[in-house]
Amino acid sequence: MQLHSTDANRLPTADVLVLGLPADGPAGPIWDLADKAAGGALGRLKNSGDLTGKKFEVTSLLGLSGLEYAQVLVVGLGPQQQIDAGVAYFAAAAGTKAAAAKPRGRVAFALAEAFPAAQREALLIQAVAGAVVGCSGQDLYRQEKRLHEPGEQLWPGASPGSLEQGHILGESVRLARRLVNEPPQVVYPESFAERAAAMADDALLEIEVWDQARLEAERCGSLLAVAKGSSQPPRLVILSHRGGAENAPTLALVGKGVTFDSGGLSLKESDSMFTMKCDMAGAAAVVGAMRAIGLLRLPVNVIGLVGLVENMPGPAAMKLGDVLTARNGRTIEVHNTDAEGRLVLADVLSVAVDRGASKIIDLATLTGACMVALGRDVAGLMTNDTAWGQRVGAAAQAVGEPAWPLPMFKEYDELIKSEVADIKNMGDGRWGGAITAAKFLEQFVGQTPWVHLDIAGPAFAEKPKPWLDGGGTGAFVRTLVEVAQQWAK
Ligand code: BES
Ligand code: MN
Ligand code: ZN
Repeated sequence: MQLHSTDANRLPTADVLVLGLPADGPAGPIWDLADKAAGGALGRLKNSGDLTGKKFEVTSLLGLSGLEYAQVLVVGLGPQQQIDAGVAYFAAAAGTKAAAAKPRGRVAFALAEAFPAAQREALLIQAVAGAVVGCSGQDLYRQEKRLHEPGEQLWPGASPGSLEQGHILGESVRLARRLVNEPPQVVYPESFAERAAAMADDALLEIEVWDQARLEAERCGSLLAVAKGSSQPPRLVILSHRGGAENAPTLALVGKGVTFDSGGLSLKESDSMFTMKCDMAGAAAVVGAMRAIGLLRLPVNVIGLVGLVENMPGPAAMKLGDVLTARNGRTIEVHNTDAEGRLVLADVLSVAVDRGASKIIDLATLTGACMVALGRDVAGLMTNDTAWGQRVGAAAQAVGEPAWPLPMFKEYDELIKSEVADIKNMGDGRWGGAITAAKFLEQFVGQTPWVHLDIAGPAFAEKPKPWLDGGGTGAFVRTLVEVAQQWAK
């Protein structure tokens, strides 16, 4: 797909025109030109209440006389005062998804003209990203596609620089989505690592891949215990981008990469196992964000670490009651083999600390309990450092990816103590499950300021949304890039 900018004050030549419409106030010059060419039809539809400008409402107008477009799509932007980066991203995604219902050569987007002038460039970047993301779907293996990516996207009035940045960001979100959407027999630890390596090549990142032998040499006993139940060998991937000064602080992004979570011997039921190809969404978000950080050449030092395993109940699988020794020396009693994500992250976090991370963010589809607490669309945010938590929370809010804090009171530490080992990999049954999982992770970050994002809900959509097909969402790639951008300032 190619992206081009066109004249801000001329109707673009295209098959489909996507027009942004605020709920209150004017849309902008392209809207006015289109309305005039259509003999005032758009204005009449607005006055009659057929076009409301309600947030993310998409209205398809076919064969408007006076206009050359096969289709005009009007996307509601909601109240003008509330148009922010999140609205820009999701509105563009909704428009591009509607346009992708049919194969089209060129789709033009007149959205940015309604954006607040002071933030127009920043919001345009998010809108372009949304337009790149929303036209692709999960139908990777369907012969008859449901969504058709257009050959070209046109952006009236966009600067080439913003267009390029939005394109990079959008393709990076798409990479994360694709890694999640590929079936688990295609994406397993080795093949995930190969895809990360191909990405690293394109984005000029350094990459290290640890295989089974290296993981053993590095004493990653906790991660390796999860891998034992599978015929697929584990991997740990370390990506690095050195855009900052030699001695500048390093931001570490850590991802849970369980390429399939059967639960292990604590086997899941089919219903809850079915979507468990999504259990590497944290790792996918890290890979997507590292791609964007590399290609945008952000002036920061960032490392991305992902722990890749398949959680299976094979003959060598870890057993309940097994005691593992993690890389940092902590001993862990296994109470439930389905609480595997924390076992994987334990060792990856300690590698991040040893690599000199000054601050850490981990992303993981870690607990169903987090979805019970916050629902399907909101990530849980847990931290050992309030200030760092607020910075990450602010970045998430700035790009419209909801995350909400959960408490980390020291009283919860009692719940993960074991009679036999230092800690156990489960808390008090289901109670406070998102927090006890975070408390477990906290044992492996030492004093390093750390934020844990439990993305079990937002990483995967069981049903399609108006702005995105179902499946992997690429959630929190944009937040991570935003954090890296703020870090640079
Ligand atoms: N991968 C799951 C968590 C999950 C659930 C992600 C639903 C996405 C959607 C995780 O490994 C898991 O199984 N967690 C257990 C922990 C429990 C055994 C302590 C859970 O949430 O039930
Ligand atoms: Mn599990
Ligand atoms: Zn899992």
